[in-house]
Order: sequence, then C-alpha cells, then structure tokens
Amino acid sequence: MKKRSNFSGKLGFVMSAAASAVGLGNLWRFPYLAAKYGGGTFLLVYLILMVTFGFTLMVGEIGIGRKTGLSVISAYKKLDKRFAFIGIISAFVPALILPYYSVIGGWVCKYTAVFLAGGGTEAVQDGFFTGFITSSVSPLMWFALFVLLTSVIVIMGVEKGIEKCSKIMMPVLIILSIIIAAYGLTTEGALEGLKYYITPDLSKLTAKTVLAALGQLFYSMSLAMGVMVTYGSYMKKETNIESSIRHIELFDTGIAFLAGLMIVPAVYAFSGGDQSALSAGPGLMFITLPKIFNNMAFGGIIGFMFFILVLFAALTSSVSLMETVVSMVQDKLKASRKVATVAVGLFTFALGVPSSLGFGVWSGVSWMGMSILDMFDFISNSILMPLVALMTCLFIGYVIKPSAIVDEVEANGEVFKSKKSFVFITKYIAPIGIVAILISFVAAGLGFLQW
Ligand code: TRP
Repeated sequence: MKKRSNFSGKLGFVMSAAASAVGLGNLWRFPYLAAKYGGGTFLLVYLILMVTFGFTLMVGEIGIGRKTGLSVISAYKKLDKRFAFIGIISAFVPALILPYYSVIGGWVCKYTAVFLAGGGTEAVQDGFFTGFITSSVSPLMWFALFVLLTSVIVIMGVEKGIEKCSKIMMPVLIILSIIIAAYGLTTEGALEGLKYYITPDLSKLTAKTVLAALGQLFYSMSLAMGVMVTYGSYMKKETNIESSIRHIELFDTGIAFLAGLMIVPAVYAFSGGDQSALSAGPGLMFITLPKIFNNMAFGGIIGFMFFILVLFAALTSSVSLMETVVSMVQDKLKASRKVATVAVGLFTFALGVPSSLGFGVWSGVSWMGMSILDMFDFISNSILMPLVALMTCLFIGYVIKPSAIVDEVEANGEVFKSKKSFVFITKYIAPIGIVAILISFVAAGLGFLQW
C-alpha cells in the first residue's frame, strides 16, 4: 500500500487546513448573514457555536480521519460497516456546494475584471450589480470561467503552487482588509453601524438566526462534509489536534470578523440602517465595497487588488472542493484523473446554471422568499450539514464512543484540555441542539411557528 504523505508538522497542517477553510464563506457569506440577522446578535451566536459545536465537531472529524488514515467514505466503513452511509452522505455535500460556490466565484472574476479595466466608478451605480446578475449570458460566462480555472488547476495538479501563493496572499489580504475596514469606519454613520455589528440584542434572537449561524459555522470551517476527515487522515500522529484546531478556528473566525467589519458598518452607513439594505443577501459585498473604494484615494487600484485576493482565496477553496469530488468519482468509476475532472467540471457547470439564472430569467422560481442559489445554499448548509453533524455526533457518542476520539487526541501523550466538554457536547448538547433547531424549522414550514 502506498504510504499517505503527511503534512509536515503543526504549522503545515494549520496552514493547509486554513487555506481550505478561508474562502468565500468568510469574505462573502459571513458579512451578508451578519448584516441580515441582527449584526451583533448573529456574531455572538456564531462565536458561541464556534467554540462549542464547531470545536467539538472538528475534533471528531479530524480524529476519525487520523485514526483510520482514510478519507471520508472508507473511514466510516472501516469504523463500522453499518454506518458507512454517513460517509457517503457527507461526500455529497461538496458536490452540491461547488456549483453555486462557483457562481459567486464568477461574480468575483467579473468584479476583478471591472476594476482592472478601471470601471470602479461604474460599479458604484445602484443598478450595476443588479443589471449584471439579472442578465443571462454574462454571469454564465464568468461562472464558466471560474469552473474552468478550478478544473485546470485540478487537472494540472498545481494545487501546491496555488497554496504557496495563497500563503503570501493571505497576509496581504488581511492587511488590505484592515485598511479598507478602517477607512470604511470613517464614513459618516459607520460608527452607528459598528455598534449594530458588535452589540448583541438578545430580544432579536430567533431559531432562524441560530440555524443560519450553525450553517455558516459548518460552511466556513468546511465541516459536516467529510473534508476534515480527509485532512485528518494526512495529519501526523505527533501533531497536536486540539491546539491545531484552536488555531484554525481563530484564523478562520478572525478573517470572517474582519470581512464583516469591512462591510456591515459601511452598509449601515450608506443606507442609514435601513433593514432592506442590510438584508440584501448574496449581493451585499458586491454592492457595498465599490462604494467604499469610490470614496478612497487610489480606490480603483485598491479595489482591483482586493478582488484579486478574494479570487485567490475563492480558488484555493473551490480547488479543494473539486478535489474532494474528483477523488470520489475516481474511486467509484475507476476513471482517470483527467476524465473525472472534466466530468465533475461539466456537472458543476450544469448544476450551477439554475443558480445563476435564478437572479434573472428564472427569478420567478422561489421558495420561502429564496432565490435558486439561496435554495441550494439552504439545502446544503441548513439541512444536509446539520444532519451530517448530527449523525457524526451520534456515531461518535454512541457507536465508537467518545473515548475512541479522546484516545486519538491523546495518542502522543498530549493532554486533551477540553475533554469533558468534548464528550458532553458530542453526546448530549449537539444532538439535542441540532434536533431542536431542525424541529423548529419544520414546525415553521408547516405554519405552527413564527419563523
Ligand atoms: N470553507 C470554505 C469557505 O469558507 C468553503 C468550503 C466549504 C470548502 N466546504 C469546503 C472549501 C471544503 C474547501 C473544502 O469558503
């Protein structure tokens, strides 16, 4: 058997996991959810879920991966044949996310090109973004370009090169975001917006906010889809699982917070705190940032740099998502890597077309106020991922028993500091919490509950 190659040490592991974790989830998704779901209220719920559920689930997944040394489908099968289906369901999630992730990736390509061509001032106009996404051909072409870029990187196997680049680009992205956020905060009214972003108002707390925060947590940390199991399988026994995860959490959340800081106070300032502007949804980043750049000296260049950095972060994530799907197809169909990648690329494009057209010609298709892209997003983040998370916790809590994971964390004589809370959350809090949220959602869907 071929020996699995390993990440060299803790830094290598943390950096690679972070490169996969940091992407559009942090930069695009987190800010619009925070703006929509009450700012500080969402932030607080998110942070609490992160250190409890998020941490626990990540320890569980990485633990399963390192223990078995296998990627997700085989890992569950090896631990207990009867529960192989958990691995299979997990593996479907990336295939569902990748298409609409790439649609947004296409939007980022478009904005990069617009700023490159010096069209930053045009992008400020109110109708610019809407004009773009409601048209049919243009968003589809940018989306196709993004899928093509991702596929080419996967076929050529140059992920390592891309990852190296991203190690340089990530710090630049952070510095640039700090500058943009600081500048945005000088906009009149932005301090009011800052207050909205960081002050929780618990009277606004609803089950919907909790479900949104939970879905975002899974999405942003690449959890509940088997990816971290695979990452864990490459992790060396000497690397400390607990502290690595704390670092990844800090990094991922830090970047999401920063992206929110850049966008939420600014939207608030530009709209005077109008709820409909705050609830703009997936378009928020694209509507707001050009306005900030427009007010800044050298805004055109800064805008271009910013979007290209976002594009990189998006590509490292989409490559890792596609990689997951491709290796699955390769295993199942015994296809070559090239054939598998082309097939996955075409599938991704086909499945993403409705999400893209859903803002234009197919805008009539909606459910509970969601566009087609929102629906895909909702199915993966708010339904499938919570279910996978639930099954994973029950599997660890009652089938292989938490001690199996605890032993793995302590394999090298390490002390598992959060052992008690890990066991308690896995066995009781997470399953009960997730079931309660899902029930309240179904009850709302049936009209029993205000959602
Ligand atoms: N976490 C990534 C982001 O924030 C998106 C993502 C979800 C992902 N699942 C993944 C990336 C699996 C790589 C692998 O954008």
